[in-house]
Amino acid sequence: MTDLFSPYTLKGVTIRNRIAMSPMTMYRATDGLMNDFHVMLLGSRAAGGFGLVFAEQLAISPEGRTSVNCGGIYDDAQIEGLSRVTAIIKDMGGVPAIQLGHTGRKGSEVKPWEGGAQLPPDHPNGWQVVGPSAIPYGGKYCYPVHALTREEIGAIHASYANAAKRALAAGFEWLEMHFAHGYLGASFFSPLANQRTDEYGGSLENRVRFHLEALDAVRAVWPERYPLTMRLGSDDLNEGGVQFDEAISAVGLMKAHGLDLADLSLGFNTDEMQTLPFADLGFMLTRAARLKQELGMPVATSWNLGLPALASKVIREGVIDLVMLGRPALSNPHWPVWAARELQQEDPFGLVPEDWAWWLRNFRAHPACIGWPVENNPVLPEFGSPG
Ligand SMILES: Cc1cc2nc3c(=O)[nH]c(=O)nc-3n(C[C@H](O)[C@H](O)[C@H](O)COP(=O)(O)O)c2cc1C
Repeated sequence: MTDLFSPYTLKGVTIRNRIAMSPMTMYRATDGLMNDFHVMLLGSRAAGGFGLVFAEQLAISPEGRTSVNCGGIYDDAQIEGLSRVTAIIKDMGGVPAIQLGHTGRKGSEVKPWEGGAQLPPDHPNGWQVVGPSAIPYGGKYCYPVHALTREEIGAIHASYANAAKRALAAGFEWLEMHFAHGYLGASFFSPLANQRTDEYGGSLENRVRFHLEALDAVRAVWPERYPLTMRLGSDDLNEGGVQFDEAISAVGLMKAHGLDLADLSLGFNTDEMQTLPFADLGFMLTRAARLKQELGMPVATSWNLGLPALASKVIREGVIDLVMLGRPALSNPHWPVWAARELQQEDPFGLVPEDWAWWLRNFRAHPACIGWPVENNPVLPEFGSPG
């Protein structure tokens, strides 16, 4: 039976288990370059047993970043740092994955813990943000949005293709397009952000044209043997925004354009959401199950799946194919090892490199002193404290 620890093959790539580290922007790059921090962060998660390891969203152009501290893949000079990231992930037994992004009208920010404000276009660390229409998101995203011309949309698609070529050169084996979270792809899909009257706005077919052209541009240069996936803002949770039914139709169209797996998330095209599901366990799962059933294609999701029993259940029952973990991967680099132990897998240490798995298996230890929680804490001995 397929479980969380079963290998997963998509196209020509086999992942050692069904656990992926979800992409997470870390605000640690300079000039979009990956550095020791990223090698440490992503290498340690591969060493901790994550089968698929996503680097943070990498911008296809400088103004596609969230902030000046975010990673990019718009310059050949960025390939070297990215190659270090992919090399360590592979060395630790993982498959390196990239998420290509453009933040659209939600770019030009400062770090969240420094206030997260959007910076005006004339600020040294800011830029003119762009979108399908000249409609600012609102709230802190207050600066005017430049509505992209057709020529500019074409240039963005060319940037996607160039970024995919660099991703290949850097050694990535899995490529996800970021069409969620209120960024450029998400705003083209959402009537809340897209009020164009040309072939990129209006009907569902028009609102998904940006994505289909982007997929075509990438698929043309990204080898067939490597998965091409995308994360979709599949619901805006707002009456005037993207409805999940539309997402199913859109993914169906994308499938015909070479999409191999759909990673479902929310639209985040507005703060005005009818419901706030963020404290609910696995709140994308019902949508994922529906999409999988209706389109018969591989599906992944994130959002509150970090409970091992839940992650295991949704794989065993075939609700999704891959569990994407964000915050659990930040808080516990060895989440897969811990989950394997919680789920009573035979050899949890089989997930870490043999260099230290051997010691963990063979060196005798008190079972409460291995480095994870125990059910019954032992009574602590007295040591004859001097005072
Ligand atoms: C610090 C941080 C940065 C994130 N950056 C990205 C990103 O670059 N791209 C993306 O698609 N999602 C991003 N996300 C969302 C996560 O990938 C994930 O979908 C979300 O946290 C829900 O999963 P979780 O409940 O396991 O944390 C980020 C989340 C966090 C906490």
